[in-house]
Amino acid sequence: MTDHFNEDWQCYVPPVYFGPGRLDEAATLIRDRHFARVLLVTDPGIAQQTFFSRLCKSLEHNTIDYRVFSAVRGNPTSENVADCCAVFRDNDCDAIVTIGGGSAIDVAKAVSLTAANHHDLWDFCFFEDPANLPAVRGEDFFVPLLIIPTTAGTGSELSGSSCVITDCDSHRKRVPYHPEHFPFAVIDDPQLLTGLPANLSAWTGMDALTHALEAYSSPVFNPMCDGIALEAIRLCHQWLEKSVANGSDLTARSQMMAASSIAAVAFSAKGLGAVHSLAHAIGALFDTHHGLANAVVLPYMLEHNKEALADKLTTIACLLNLPEKSPDGVIQWLLALRQSLNIPSTLADLNIAESDLQAIAELALKDAEHQTNPVSMDENAFMQVCHKALHGRIG
Ligand SMILES: NC(=O)c1ccc[n+]([C@@H]2O[C@H](COP(=O)([O-])OP(=O)(O)OC[C@H]3O[C@@H](n4cnc5c(N)ncnc54)[C@H](O)[C@@H]3O)[C@@H](O)[C@H]2O)c1
Ligand SMILES: [Fe+2]
Repeated sequence: MTDHFNEDWQCYVPPVYFGPGRLDEAATLIRDRHFARVLLVTDPGIAQQTFFSRLCKSLEHNTIDYRVFSAVRGNPTSENVADCCAVFRDNDCDAIVTIGGGSAIDVAKAVSLTAANHHDLWDFCFFEDPANLPAVRGEDFFVPLLIIPTTAGTGSELSGSSCVITDCDSHRKRVPYHPEHFPFAVIDDPQLLTGLPANLSAWTGMDALTHALEAYSSPVFNPMCDGIALEAIRLCHQWLEKSVANGSDLTARSQMMAASSIAAVAFSAKGLGAVHSLAHAIGALFDTHHGLANAVVLPYMLEHNKEALADKLTTIACLLNLPEKSPDGVIQWLLALRQSLNIPSTLADLNIAESDLQAIAELALKDAEHQTNPVSMDENAFMQVCHKALHGRIG
């Protein structure tokens, strides 16, 4: 795959209300739009948090009618989306507010894409079949959506309508998306991150870093988003370890939230790569946390892509002022970072066995994300990377 210079650049970012404490502005944003009844979409862990009850109280204080769907699961499935959609329709809701990590946001997006128009969710798999994307008819075709992320990882708040949902029939993660659908607003409140446990902070942070690295590595020509991806990499280098070491460090949390959100702008324009194809396969087959799967696979895949990325990885090494200004310097940094964050280093550590690798490679190949990997992937190439990742062999 080589760089080519014919590209259509699109980079739409909805209004982002960024800063500690800005959750309190949610009720006003909703009230001003005069919805009849909103559905709050979240997961059971978030529903227990004090910030969630604060949000509910402020909706009540502003006489905003709402219902709650709090049954989002990790690595959400099409069944999970159908359940949420049924609650939305049964309660005559007309808008969605989602507060949570990528799982809650993605279920909310999936319902927002389909609940008002009765299309099947898989009709929106733009990356699999752009030609058959449903035409938008009327202003009410999509359900209005407000997104409030509570992890600094997926960047799902700024990846347009793209949502990662496991198809219960094919048992693989698929990515519905419509280029004309966006949330009407995003609230990035880093205060909400201060209670996120260290392991989840590390895993989600590695997801953000993987987004930035894969977006920058993608051969799609988009220097504007290359700049965004490089800034996200720089922020992760400076702040990820600090945000994990001290969860209440609001500066570190703010910088990681910024890194995560902007990395999504970059990957939405440039695409991701084969690390994400493997992470999607591992998540669908073993229910592994998405960021953890990325963190384990990332150095092995970079090693595989290394020659094609010689210039780009050297640029990153110089930007970060790494001791070794070379592609190997970046890989060494990632290995050290992973260790300092107490993240396992092999697929074996995730209880994955040699006999599982074939299924992972087959599923990864079906995933659309590796279309923008700097090196073309086939099943054999995925198997090679998986074998190295299983036993922890770099090089
Ligand atoms: N749409 C996209 O652009 C995109 C990009 C990358 C990943 N994803 C998807 O996102 C999902 C992963 O999302 P995630 O990594 O944010 O994890 P998650 O949403 O699955 O949440 C993980 C856990 O963290 C808890 N949690 C979240 N925020 C918390 C907080 N502030 N305080 C305490 N606990 C908190 C949740 O209750 C949950 O138990 C995967 O399904 C992945 O495929 C989507
Ligand atoms: Fe991701």
